[in-house]
Amino acid sequence: MSLWGRIFAAGYDTFVGRMERRFMGAVRKELLANASGRVVEIGSGTGVNLQHYPRTIEELVCTEPEEPMAKRLRRKAEGTDLPVTIVNAGAEDLPFEDDSFDTAVATLVLCTVRDPAAALRELSRVLKPGGRLIFIEHVRATEPGLAKWQDRLHPLWVRFGHGCHCNRPTLDTIEASSFEVQSYRRGEVPFSPPIVRPLITGVATARAAP
Ligand SMILES: C[S@@+](CC[C@H](N)C(=O)[O-])C[C@H]1O[C@@H](n2cnc3c(N)ncnc32)[C@H](O)[C@@H]1O
Repeated sequence: MSLWGRIFAAGYDTFVGRMERRFMGAVRKELLANASGRVVEIGSGTGVNLQHYPRTIEELVCTEPEEPMAKRLRRKAEGTDLPVTIVNAGAEDLPFEDDSFDTAVATLVLCTVRDPAAALRELSRVLKPGGRLIFIEHVRATEPGLAKWQDRLHPLWVRFGHGCHCNRPTLDTIEASSFEVQSYRRGEVPFSPPIVRPLITGVATARAAP
């Protein structure tokens, strides 16, 4: 793990704190209210979502491949009343059986995973047919001027954001996957740099394998 990776994990909660308190916390709570049954979350990071899950879920399996993040996630999980298990895994290769979860959660992570299409294939495999994917992702701007700036600043941002791609057309990637988007909204993340403001939130369902 690079030094910046460790600093990024140590500073993550502080860096996103204002945005979470003033905006994203409410967005997470609203979307995560759709979670039920056995839930798998990819790239859980420091565990920002833990406080926002409905307490009615049966089980939450948080996956996270980076130890500096996972360490903080474990600490938060110890202080929660949720039934949480933490698994060291990348989203492109989930160590779970087919059709084993009711809900999958991806928040601010499809921007960072190495291969978003592969991650979506894995989520679709581990979800039961009809299972829900809840997503909250910052994405490529629909406005061409801002999209151009996202492309220009991408080489810098990807380093600063520890692998975060500010210009990924994630809604297109979800729509091209085996998920069917049931509902989505476009919005903006206030209190953040313009290149990571365009936001999509929504719910998609896993189609049955052909
Ligand atoms: C910007 S953070 C988001 C954390 C959390 N999901 C949230 O909403 O605050 C991105 C996370 O993705 C994780 N990550 C990086 N590569 C990944 C991969 N291939 N599969 C799953 N997670 C990955 C990082 O370690 C980091 O915890």
